[in-house]
Amino acid sequence: MKPIHFLVNGKPLTPTGEATRRLLDILREDLGLTAAKPGCGIGRCGACAVWVDGRPTNACLAMAWQLDGCSVTTLESGDGDAAFAAVRDALARHGAVQCGYCSPGLMMTLTHAWRQEPRPDASAVLHMASGHLCRCTGYAGVRRAVQALFGEGADSDHPA
Ligand code: FES
Ligand code: FES
Repeated sequence: MKPIHFLVNGKPLTPTGEATRRLLDILREDLGLTAAKPGCGIGRCGACAVWVDGRPTNACLAMAWQLDGCSVTTLESGDGDAAFAAVRDALARHGAVQCGYCSPGLMMTLTHAWRQEPRPDASAVLHMASGHLCRCTGYAGVRRAVQALFGEGADSDHPA
């Protein structure tokens, strides 16, 4: 079998084990990168979101063989990054975090939106965030944070 190579936070990785191993397990078990969380395991909750080639991706659904030649970015790479900090601060300031289990995945999606040019409006961002489920805080704080970051007009289809 051809070796698989990809980048994780800019560092080259040749994962061990089966080509069908999940990215989520490689990150958490092999690399100790635990920001991406195991949740539903079927692509429905967004807790495991990372970026693959810059796009939010559920790591529970991405298998090693699919990542050959790709660049994976996790929340751990965002330390000191102004965009991640802006999103983190907005979520905290607007009461969008309780246990925090859903927060890393949500941050990957919101930060992706924050870095886009042109930046999307709040309604569009809430639509993007609709794939992130929160079991304890609810969505009112997320809506407030998104409105603060991306502007008004967020009468979206987010399940708030
Ligand atoms: S654990 Fe990946 S989407 Fe829920
Ligand atoms: S803050 Fe607890 S699941 Fe969202």
